[in-house]
Amino acid sequence: MTPDKGFFYCFGCQSGGNVFNFLMKIENLDFPDAVKLLANKLGVPLPEKEKSARDRQLEREMAQLYRSNDLARDFFHSCLVNTGYGKEAREYLSNRGITAEIIDEFKLGFSPPAWDKLTGALSERGVMPETLVKAGLAVQRSGSGVYDRFRGRIMFPINDAQGRVVGFGGRVLDVSQPKYLNTPETLVFNKRHILYGFDVANSFIRQTGKVVVVEGYMDLIALRNSGIKNVVASLGTAFTPDQARKLVRVRAREIFFAYDSDAAGQEATVRALNTVKALGFAVRIVAMPDGKDPDEYVRKHGQSAFNELIEQAPGLLEYQVKRAIETTDTSGLEGKVAVVAKAVPALAEADNAVEVANHIRNLSETLAIDEGAIRSEIRKYIAQSKKDKNVSLGKNINISSLSQRPGQSIVVAERQLIRLMFEDFSIIPYVETQISGDDIQGRERKIIIKSLFAAYNMEKSLIPDVFALTLPGEAANELSNIMVMEMDFEDIAKVVDDLIKAIRLACLKGLLEEHSLRAQELERMGDSNFLQELAESQRIHDEISKLRLL
Ligand code: UTP
Ligand code: MN
Repeated sequence: MTPDKGFFYCFGCQSGGNVFNFLMKIENLDFPDAVKLLANKLGVPLPEKEKSARDRQLEREMAQLYRSNDLARDFFHSCLVNTGYGKEAREYLSNRGITAEIIDEFKLGFSPPAWDKLTGALSERGVMPETLVKAGLAVQRSGSGVYDRFRGRIMFPINDAQGRVVGFGGRVLDVSQPKYLNTPETLVFNKRHILYGFDVANSFIRQTGKVVVVEGYMDLIALRNSGIKNVVASLGTAFTPDQARKLVRVRAREIFFAYDSDAAGQEATVRALNTVKALGFAVRIVAMPDGKDPDEYVRKHGQSAFNELIEQAPGLLEYQVKRAIETTDTSGLEGKVAVVAKAVPALAEADNAVEVANHIRNLSETLAIDEGAIRSEIRKYIAQSKKDKNVSLGKNINISSLSQRPGQSIVVAERQLIRLMFEDFSIIPYVETQISGDDIQGRERKIIIKSLFAAYNMEKSLIPDVFALTLPGEAANELSNIMVMEMDFEDIAKVVDDLIKAIRLACLKGLLEEHSLRAQELERMGDSNFLQELAESQRIHDEISKLRLL
């Protein structure tokens, strides 16, 4: 931590590691992709399933979308930098302190204020109009033909973790609405998964274990420009479990949320942040004192002021309690009661008893209220929320804890987890933060879980019979088996965690076997890379031991 170099990117990186870590870092790959890449290079056949015609078709289509986006980025960039169309946008950006270097680094662009400029330019490069529609770059006319989706906007290309352009955000130059227009959902663009800037921030997050999350494009650009490299933007307020999982994969431990100060206090945000905290991250809130967003803040007060905000950023609980006091007039008894009411949910849900005790003492001193009264409010709240939880379960299922039955087969664990999500939809987002569909062994159950997460996120019907209609036949059969399965539970929260643990263990064990086998194989072939495989096996082994301790 050298103050003159900034808090975040000065660290003398000591990270060693094996060839997989190396590839994951250099190529920004997930572990499975790194294995594939390496296996490819070594000519080691991986036990890969035969690709179906449908998979190949999908891959072709995705490749077309990447290419269209790539060409579009270059087109928009050139319009901004080289043409008369871009003049006004260049002035706008320069007024906001965006230099030519920044424009180049982020490949910012401008979409001309016309209906056919992009479509025309790309069709000359052989891109079909229907491909542009699939990429979200053009819109199908109700008659025939297509028109450019983005017109007269400053264009922010959005990259995936490997740096491929998957979508765009386009900002108007004036106050018209919507301020930002984004690429709609496409084969390669899913807003819930995307973290803007992740392709660059990735390695810095790994090195520091820390990440700053901001809301907007301009916030990210401003912070990067002021030397903070481990920053990503969630592109909107709600931070999703998918986004959190991306940060888990790069070993982030501490997340600094630098949202607009009003947004940070909003209930939706606090709820999202509690989920993040439940994942094991240390969550800290960087509140801009003058209600500005990070972009405006660094511009006005400078980089070191922002770094100071970060160093002093309170934890989530502290922030919530402080905010309860700050936003209430506490001169009268009514105000005091209101503060306690606001702080109680956060205190009730916190898991650090010492921290909670400190807050209770502080509240008691600040408000001149008896500590016992605050504690009793917290107890009441906990009792009430337990009741609510039982009610929300709908049926009165009588459940005996799974943890008493070790040796439980993975098939049963997967089935039970699915069943529980259908019994209590409110646990779906939590489960989604803990495992991904790919951790599931059974093919049908993998489909069910993936579709369930998607349906939940898109607010589609989760009524089992309706939901089953969206599934392929075999998966629908499996679901109906699951829904009539005899089940018997008590402490849902604990059972869910046990199931998740069992499923993750099984997944890791599978990986371990795969790597140990490959290590043996490479050793037999006299390939010294077997050492890397051994190291990887060891890593997985450690992860398994850690999980067992939980
Ligand atoms: P803000 O309204 O805070 O905008 O939205 P901003 O980032 O400060 O933008 P500037 O400084 O006015 O240019 C935060 C983020 O929410 C998403 C965008 O990703 C934006 O960066 N957003 C906002 C949209 O997608 N659409 C909108 O109409 C507005
Ligand atoms: Mn802004």
